[in-house]
Amino acid sequence: MRKSQLELKGKTVLVTAGPTQEPLDPIRFISNRSSGKMGYAVALAALKFGAKVILISGPTHLSSPQGVNLVRIVTARELREAVLKHFPKADVVVAAAAVADYRPESKAARKIRKEGRRELTIRLVRNPDILRELGKTKGDKILVGFAAETGQMITNAREKLKKKNLDLIVANDVTKKGSGFEVDTNIVSIISRDGKIISLPKLSKTRVAERILREAVKIIKNTERTT
Ligand code: CTP
Repeated sequence: MRKSQLELKGKTVLVTAGPTQEPLDPIRFISNRSSGKMGYAVALAALKFGAKVILISGPTHLSSPQGVNLVRIVTARELREAVLKHFPKADVVVAAAAVADYRPESKAARKIRKEGRRELTIRLVRNPDILRELGKTKGDKILVGFAAETGQMITNAREKLKKKNLDLIVANDVTKKGSGFEVDTNIVSIISRDGKIISLPKLSKTRVAERILREAVKIIKNTERTT
């Protein structure tokens, strides 16, 4: 193993992955498109870099990675609770979860029937922005976010990095073939606080995960050098 691959030894990496599901009734939910593959790849890469890994995951079809502390959640509010619980231990947080920004205002106790209804209106309320909350108390932890965009990718991602007080943001244009949901590859740009943009070609999610962690390691080393 290359020495660089153990550069997160002694560090704890917290990863969020997969979608959240927001229930409408006992059998229906609203959710986001996400297979969880990018987040799971980050968790495995962090393990390979020698870190202790906590993976907080929404419902996915992926098998639990060996050696990772896997915490399963369903809703955005459960994700928030789990993240806040584990955040104090983390040195690096990679938020790859596709969090539903809204949830149905209430969950019906029984299945919503169509009998006698020509239309159905669902009222949605805002879910907490978990990463933004972390950004407010991050201290010297490294925060990495994702921005899945459908246009103006760099501008939108930069804005999110600032708004959420992140160290890095990984932006992808999900309209591009080989980028985004369900596939095993991704085409991303990694943007840092100082404005640097690393635009990567189409790579496997494993390689993308390694590149993200390498950038996080660089920031840790710089911080350790100057303190
Ligand atoms: N995120 C989060 N909590 C939310 C929504 C998103 O922690 N309620 C995290 C995601 O895990 C991701 C990043 O924030 O790392 C970007 O999420 P995104 O939904 O693209 O950003 P928003 O600020 O919600 O902007 P918009 O939905 O308007 O594009």
